[in-house]
Amino acid sequence: MKDFLKAPRFAGIEAFGKKVWLSSPTMHGEEQHWVDEAILTNWVSTIGDNIDSIEESIASMIGCRYAVALSTGTAALHLATKLAGERLYGQPRAGKGTLRGRRVFASDCTFAASINPIMYEDGEAVFIDTEYDTWNMDPAALEKAFEIYPEVKLVVIAHLYGTPGKMQELKAICDRHGAMIVEDAAESLGAKYKLNGSWVETGSLGNFNCISFNGNKIITGSAGGMFLTDSREDADKVRKWSTQAREPAPWYQHEELGYNYRMSNIIAGIVRGQLPHLPEHIEQKKRIWERYEAGLRDLPVRMNPWDKENCVPNFWLSCLLIDEDAMAPLEKSRLDYLYKSIPGKSSPLEILDALAAFRAEGRPIWKPMHMQPIYLDHEFISTEGISKKRDSSYDGRDCRDVGADIFRRGLCLPSDNKMTPEQQDVVIDIIHRCFK
Ligand SMILES: Cc1ncc(COP(=O)(O)O)c(C=O)c1O
Repeated sequence: MKDFLKAPRFAGIEAFGKKVWLSSPTMHGEEQHWVDEAILTNWVSTIGDNIDSIEESIASMIGCRYAVALSTGTAALHLATKLAGERLYGQPRAGKGTLRGRRVFASDCTFAASINPIMYEDGEAVFIDTEYDTWNMDPAALEKAFEIYPEVKLVVIAHLYGTPGKMQELKAICDRHGAMIVEDAAESLGAKYKLNGSWVETGSLGNFNCISFNGNKIITGSAGGMFLTDSREDADKVRKWSTQAREPAPWYQHEELGYNYRMSNIIAGIVRGQLPHLPEHIEQKKRIWERYEAGLRDLPVRMNPWDKENCVPNFWLSCLLIDEDAMAPLEKSRLDYLYKSIPGKSSPLEILDALAAFRAEGRPIWKPMHMQPIYLDHEFISTEGISKKRDSSYDGRDCRDVGADIFRRGLCLPSDNKMTPEQQDVVIDIIHRCFK
């Protein structure tokens, strides 16, 4: 890494005394009360009032009839994906996945936890390209995918960085093809979307819906997740699978494969204390996005976009995308990178290095799934059609590949809701100096 602290371009800027984080937990005090109550009443278990309370309040806030609190968002996604597979294709033998040999269409620009459950269930993830308006699954690419594989019956859709995808279009396509949706709203809790003219919450838009309380999310329990549904039967099934699939017999009776995926009542206490603060966190994150948007307007960059008519994001992470003609040369190898500094230009990794030197945490855009070594031999479908095998040097520049382009030119900015306006001004100043 260059010595940004000594470079004349950055003269006069001092490193932050206390690191500015990408997105860290923000506690308020009520969390302590509910954790203490669990301890004082001995409900230090995977049952208890905190769990009952958050299941009820989150179901009602999101507008789903049932919520099942689980150990992580990944656990919620696993059970949602497994349940979708079982509903579609029946119950397999113990040890075989419910999606064995079946193609599943999935968001490409997302975190691996959206996708891995398809593999846990022996399915074959087919990645669907991204659109520039919201950085989520492109309805036109999904339509193309159904043209190629009309037999597909399951689509996993994530909302990246707290911005809802084009769910009206995506749902209409899935409905037309009789496909179910697993909705991954891990990053978008509290974001709203206008569906058929009515505002609804993300986490209520699929057949099987998932949220996360991971430590970096808009509210947190340190960990935790939730499965949401309108179906009593589905909620009961997920609850049963999450408690080792115990049958209601006096002895341990197992007729299905189970998991230990329940949320702890201590974690639920933290979530219970955080929940009233969700609107305030969203407001703080929104102000951060707006300050970046105003402060970076004179640079050849754009902020992560959202559809102002049909959605209200939760603004979990603020991101930027550098204009193509302002991109300084940048090369990536498997684990490393090299860039040039050129006046008037910059690159995501130069900006991230500069921010890190001054003790501010940004992050590259989530690397698209179809570019991940583990998934290089999986199919990827853009509006241009199918691309099968790629190799590790693939960077998507020779074809239409929106995800690869956003990954190449974009980055996530420090978006912590405890960052002060003064600290954010320094972050904005550092970014300006990168283009000098
Ligand atoms: C899009 C997305 N899906 C799923 C997850 C997994 O959630 P968890 O960390 O709670 O398992 C995360 C974050 O961690 C995420 O960002």
